[in-house]
Order: sequence, then C-alpha cells, then structure tokens
Amino acid sequence: MWTCFLFFILQGWVSEKGPLSAIIEENLYLCTVTIFYEADTTEMALRLSGTLRERGSKLYRLSSGVLEQMSTWRRSPCDAYVFLLAKGEILIKHASVNYLRATPYRQGYKPPLFWNYDAYYIIALIDPSSLNPRDLIGLYNFRKTQNFLVLQPMKSHILIWTHSLISKIPVLEFLDSWVNGSFLNRNRLFAKKFEDFQRMPLRVATFEFAPSVVYARDESGRIVTRLGVDMEIIQGLAVIKNFTVEFVEVSYEEKWGTKYPNGSWDGLMREVYDEISDIGVCNVFIDDFRWTETDYSYPYNFMPGCFVTPTPKPLSNWQSPLLPFSWNTWVSIGISLLVGGPILYFMSVLYKAPGPREFRSLSYSYLYFMAALTTRPLDAVPVSLPTRIYMGFFWIYCLIITTGYSANLIAFLSVTQKAPPIDTLDQLIKSGLKLGGHSFWKTQFEISTDPRILKLASLLDTNVDYLGVFKAVEAGKFAFVENKQYLELNRDARFTYGDRPTIRIARECYLSYNVALILPRNSPLTDNLTNALLRIFESGMMTKWQAEVTKHFREKYAAERSKVSTEATDINQALNLGHVQGVFYIMGLGYVVATVLFVYERLSKK
Ligand SMILES: *[C@@H]1O[C@H](CO)[C@@H](O)[C@H](O)[C@H]1NC(C)=O
Ligand SMILES: *[C@@H]1O[C@H](CO)[C@@H](O)[C@H](O)[C@H]1NC(C)=O
Repeated sequence: MWTCFLFFILQGWVSEKGPLSAIIEENLYLCTVTIFYEADTTEMALRLSGTLRERGSKLYRLSSGVLEQMSTWRRSPCDAYVFLLAKGEILIKHASVNYLRATPYRQGYKPPLFWNYDAYYIIALIDPSSLNPRDLIGLYNFRKTQNFLVLQPMKSHILIWTHSLISKIPVLEFLDSWVNGSFLNRNRLFAKKFEDFQRMPLRVATFEFAPSVVYARDESGRIVTRLGVDMEIIQGLAVIKNFTVEFVEVSYEEKWGTKYPNGSWDGLMREVYDEISDIGVCNVFIDDFRWTETDYSYPYNFMPGCFVTPTPKPLSNWQSPLLPFSWNTWVSIGISLLVGGPILYFMSVLYKAPGPREFRSLSYSYLYFMAALTTRPLDAVPVSLPTRIYMGFFWIYCLIITTGYSANLIAFLSVTQKAPPIDTLDQLIKSGLKLGGHSFWKTQFEISTDPRILKLASLLDTNVDYLGVFKAVEAGKFAFVENKQYLELNRDARFTYGDRPTIRIARECYLSYNVALILPRNSPLTDNLTNALLRIFESGMMTKWQAEVTKHFREKYAAERSKVSTEATDINQALNLGHVQGVFYIMGLGYVVATVLFVYERLSKK
C-alpha cells in the first residue's frame, strides 16, 4: 500500500507537470531553490532537482547539521526552500527554536540565525498519515514567516494550505487544490498576509511621555484618551490596517528600558525583545545599539537630543554704575579730569586778567570741572577769552560724555545682568553641574570618538527621576539630556513665568535621531506597516497632532503656573536695591573721605 502510494506521489509530484514544479515556475521563477529530503524521499528529490535542472537547485539531505550551518541559509535576493517530508521531526525541531536566543547571552556575541524569514517555504507532506499541516503552522519560526505553503496529498488530489498570521492561535488557511495536473482555483499562493488584519488585537507597549504620549484621565485616574503624535499614529495604523489595539503600560521608571549585564532588558525594550508585545511606541530613537535586538519601522519623526540647563543667575549689581563705560573710558575720563583742573587753574593764575577769584584755587578748579561733568551749574564764569574757549570746548566734551553715560546707565539698570549662559558642550562640562539622563544616552555617548562626549558619558548619572528633575535644573544644580521636543514642552508649559523661562536648552545639541516604532526582531509586521506609516507621515497630520497635544499639556499646567507667575514677573518692574547699591557705595565713599579730611583739618589746626 505504502509503496503503491509513494509511486503515485513520485509520478504526480515531481514530474515537470507536477505541483511543485508548477509552483516554482509560476511564482518563484527568479529564486534560488534549495531542496531538503529525507531517507524515504531521496528519489523524489533527485527527480525534482532534475526537472529544475536549467535553473539549478541545491540539494541537501535533511539533518540538524545541515540546518545549523550558515551556508544553508545564505541569502540571495530571493530564496525558496522545498522540504520533502515523510516524517519531518528534524524540521519540526528546527523550526521551533528562536535562534537569536538559543545560546546563553555573551556580550558582543551575535548568535547565528539559522532561518531565513524572507524566504519562500514549500513543504510537501509525502506521508500524510504521519504528518499533518497542523503540526507545522504553529511552530515559532513559521509563525514569523509570511511565505509558507503546505502540500497535503489526498487520494486523488493535493490540497495546498498556508497559515493565517492574523490570529493569535495558529489557523490553517485553504488556498487551492491540485487536481488532474492543474490548480483548481488558481488563487494567488503567496498573497500578502497583512493587508487587512480583520480586527486582530495587537499588543502595543507604551508609557506616558509628553508630547509623544499624553494621557487624559478621569477623576479615578483611568485613562480616557491618549493624545500625542505616537498615539495618533498607532490609532491611524489601526484604522488603515483594521486591527484593534491592546495597550500595555510600561513602568514609568523603566521607560525605554536598560540592558542588564545578562543580556535581558527592562521597560519598553523588554516587551518587544521578549516578544510579549507586538509593537513598542514612545518616541523611540533609532540607534545601532538596539537595532541588533529589535526591528525598527520606517521612521516617522526626527529629533535632536539636547541638554537643558538652568538659566543664568543675575550677577551681583553693585557694579552697575560702573558698567556703562569700559575701563579704558573710565581711565581716560580720570586723566582728563586730572589734567583739566590744573590747566584751568594755571590759565587763570598766569593770565592775571580780571576774573572770578575762585579760579585761582586749585580745588575750586577741580570742583568746577566736576560740575561740568555732572551738569551742575556754578555761578562763576571765566572772563578771559582763552579760558572761555577752553571751557567752551570742555563743556561740549562733558555734554557728550554725560549723555552717553546716562543713556547707557538706564539700559544697564533696566536689564538684569546675567552670568554667561551654557551654550556648548564644553561649557557644560566645565560648569560643574551634575548631569543626568536615561541610560540610552550613556550608551550613545560611550560609542563616540569625541573626547568631550566621552567625558559627558563618564559624568552622566542614569538614575534620574524624570518627575523631579526639572525642579533640580531650575534650582541650578542639574543639567539633563533628553529629546528637544520634550524639553521645549516642559520649559514652555511648566517653567515659563510670564515670558521668563527658568530653564534653558543649550544651543549645542548632541546628534539628531529618527523616531520609529520598535517591533520584535524579524517580525513579519515590520515591512507591512511601512506603507500605512508613510501614508500617515505624508498626510501632514503630525504637525496638527503636535499642536493639539502641546495645547493640552499647557492647559494642564496653566493653573499651577499662574500662581507663581504673578510674583515672579514683578521682578523687572521697579529698580530694587540690588540695582542701585553701587550708587550708595559711592556716596558712602564720599562721606568717608570727607570725614577723614574734616578730622585731619581739625587736628592740624590745633
Ligand atoms: C475589518 O475587519 C472586520 C472583521 O473581519 C471586517 O468585518 C471589516 O469589514 C473590516 N473592515 C475593513 C475596513 O476592511
Ligand atoms: C537578568 O538580570 C536581571 C537583573 O539583574 C534579572 O531581573 C533578570 O531576571 C535576569 N534575566 C535572566 C534571563 O537571567
């Protein structure tokens, strides 16, 4: 019976007009074909290979040794693997293993991947009594492979099955049957499997991180709506692809996740790396480090990573009366006063012309000069022509100097003087501020070749409490690295009083990153979401979503902020003692000098 059956199969399956040749010729014309056979199917394999002679094929006796060598899985632009199975245990065992996780984790070691998820798999079950299509469809690697056919022989025809990937439990899907040398329905055998998910639930891992993901909650803390570009994108994809979303909340402390020394992750990465969730989303930056462990979708956003620093503190203002002129100018004015007084005195003394007696006193001449400089009128007027000309020109000089001084003084008093702001990474390193950021940034900084960035990596504290960190920045103790959009939103919504922000984003940022969804490594979804993602991206809706979430976030913090803002904005309205203290120092100095002279005079008269 078995031999007779086998004979039928041999005749039917592998002839040039058989189903295997037909599938390969019609669908996989340009592919490299690899045929695997077992002891009972050797002859079949040879004959099949004979019918494919012109295009060439590789022929392997199925064994775990063959399946676990890289050359078997070497990729070409299109690969097709044909399995002729009588028993199939070896394939079943091989297809059940996740090769990325099959060996214990070693740092820097990339495990070999003994599977080709993009290839076409055609499995011919030669002995239907010992092997059923259902035995194969649920296996780990087949569930991640889109192009998969099982041929099951019946008495007079051959059934062609595939598996449905849009259900959580493996389901066989009937495609066609091969009767009397041709396909019955002529269905497309390798149709795309993810055009319509038919409302399959996908698990999407995320956590709240404004403005990418913002939750509106009711009184009991339950999430009512999810706002933000990333959430809108997921909801858009769900509509286009017709899937439903089961959100999985990742712990806010763990966020995107940190890699442990033993190779496992926490946070969002764990959900995706351990294939618990189908998609991870929350402003995930594309980087090399995670790319070896997960898949990234097509990028849908673009963002630099920047440091937020405290705004510069106001300088002490005792110097403000001095600030309007540079030191050179002050010295020049001093010299002109030093020289000008004696010249007036000598002119009056030498000329001997009639004129106010006062000019014949040196100290009066000085006082007269000071009066001119400070626009004080004095009664005495020079009489002789040269003195008048001399004084006339001196008054013009005084006019210009005093106008310049008073105009500049107003400017310096009304604008609070600040210490220089932190704008470059160099200044940041030298500032002595504590640096913090998520562990992602440490991994990024550590692979840099720039010594400044390596220095940042060594200073960076990855144990940051995101809720309190902005207060620490505001208090002038901390600088913090995160994506620019997040920093800007927090600055504008939470830390701007009136029009005065108390935290500041350093102008020199670290690299810019693309933002994408993460998916489990070799997930069949990755490519299938790209078109839909591009459609959303090109629609231009992202700008609108961004504006909406920013508005929502601001409103959320508006009440808290307005309480503080009234006291804070008053600061610039009136000159406080800090601004004018320098003037009091000058007056004090005058008192002290006058008192010293007074005492000296009294003593010397005795
Ligand atoms: C989505 O899937 C459901 C369930 O299969 C189906 O009834 C519905 O027509 C689909 N919607 C679209 C827009 O394809
Ligand atoms: C790896 O280490 C972390 C923390 O040290 C632990 O929670 C986790 O279970 C470990 N994972 C494995 C696979 O051993």
